[in-house]
Parts: sequence; C-alpha cells; structure tokens
Amino acid sequence: MASRFFDHGKLERNVSLLGIAALIVVAIGGIVEIAPLFWIDNTIEKVEGMRPYTPLELAGRNIYIREGCYNCHSQMIRPFRDETERYGHYSLAAESMFDHPFQWGSKRTGPDLARVGGRYSDEWHVQHLKDPRAVVPESIMPTYPFLAERDLKPGDMAAHLTALSDVGVPYSKDDVDKANADLAAQADPTADAADLLKRYPKAQVRDFDGDPNRLTEMDALVAYLQMLGTLVDVNAAEPQEVER
Ligand code: HEC
Repeated sequence: MASRFFDHGKLERNVSLLGIAALIVVAIGGIVEIAPLFWIDNTIEKVEGMRPYTPLELAGRNIYIREGCYNCHSQMIRPFRDETERYGHYSLAAESMFDHPFQWGSKRTGPDLARVGGRYSDEWHVQHLKDPRAVVPESIMPTYPFLAERDLKPGDMAAHLTALSDVGVPYSKDDVDKANADLAAQADPTADAADLLKRYPKAQVRDFDGDPNRLTEMDALVAYLQMLGTLVDVNAAEPQEVER
C-alpha cells in the first residue's frame, strides 16, 4: 500500500533502487558503530590493581593454552545474574588487557575460571588436575598427572617478556632482565621475594605442587590458576580513563 509520504511499493519492486537504499541504510549503521572509535582514545577502562603476569604465571598460562584447557573453560563472566551469582563479579575488559591471546573462550564444558583464584587450596588443584574424579566424582574433565612429573622448561622468559612488551604489555627492563630468576623465585619459599613483590604486587610466592625440591609444570599451572581474578578488587574498582 502506498504511504501518504513515500511509495514503498515502488522501492520494493525496483531492484536497483532497493539495492541503493539498502546500501545507504547499512552505511549509516556502519558509521554509527565505527565513527566513535576515531574520537575516543581507548576502549578499555583502566582499573586499579591490574599488572602484567609474573614469569611463573605466564609459564602456567602457556601450559593452559598448550593443553587446550580453553576448549572446555571460559574466562569471561558475563553480566547476567545466573553467572555473577555462580562465578562472582562480571569480568572487566581491563582484566584481560595483558592477555595475548585472550582466553575468553567460546564454550563451557566446565565452569568459567576467570575468578577461580583462591577458591580452592593448592592441594585441591594438584589432586584435581592429576585425577578430577578424586575430588569431583561426577567430573568429565581429563586427567593431567604428567604435569607433576615434568620439570618446568619454559624457554627463555626474558625473550617471552620482550615479545609481550612489543605488543604493549608494560614490562620494565628490570622485569625482562630478571625474568628467569623471578620464575624460579616465585615457586621457592626460601627465596627473598621482596623485589618480585614490589614489581608484581599480589604475586603469590610459595611451592605450589607440594614438592618443594622441584619446579614442575604443575607449579606453574597452579600458580596461574590461583592468581586468576585476584588482582583487581572488582567491587571497589571505579573505572577511570586510561592515560597514554
Ligand atoms: C573436556 C573438558 C575439559 C578440559 C579439556 C579441561 N577441563 Fe577443567 N573442568 C571440566 C569440567 C566438566 C569441570 C567441572 C567438574 C570438575 O570440577 O572436575 C572442570 C573443572 C575445573 C576446575 C574447577 C573449577 C571450579 O570452579 O570448580 C578447574 C580449576 C579446572 N577445571 C581447570 C582445568 C585446567 C587447568 C585444564 C587444562 C589443563 C582443564 N581444566 C581442562 C572440563 C574440562
């Protein structure tokens, strides 16, 4: 039916006209989405407490990626009631700003891990990774007992940190120079960790796998799991503008 102001029937019957009109409408939508990005400095709001990963956490994260834990676990709590009641405060963009690549995940066969840090003891994690059924009888998670057997061979952490600085993670020269020493110190309860803690606030320093004589892949992975979601006090975090 022809409208009083505009004959829509004409538009619908003329393919070229319809094509041009569709293009104009889509272009307006595109501009509305894209144009603001040219005027704002950053899309990530900075929050207090966020810091780059320690070398040990980073080595653990690499094992997490190597073993494909992300195939079953997400690290992004969505702002819905059923998620926040189960997992805690929804994830903030800044909490994954140093993740290359991010571990948001696209599938949850197991629970979200964004705030799993501190929820269980180290012993629980070690047991659970060796044999999930030992602590959660109905679990379908695979077993990873070899992590406790294998010495941690993370490669050159200094080179790793340098590569991350190249993509914008703010590691200092000191962090890079001390990377390999920091890695060992964090899992050694006898080491003096004051310097490490100054550069990486809230780093957890201890033996993680229950075997203080060895530095294993289990140490690194548990160190990583135990720090997830522990850096930012999300309830107090008031988003601020990022200074560049
Ligand atoms: C085949 C899917 C699958 C894979 C792969 C997998 N998980 Fe799981 N994970 C699960 C399931 C299902 C659960 C819930 C049952 C349980 O606690 O075991 C779970 C639970 C967990 C929990 C406890 C979370 C909580 O809040 O209770 C942690 C921690 C965890 N997984 C870590 C890992 C790590 C680290 C890896 C990689 C080394 C991994 N998972 C690989 C399926 C998986």
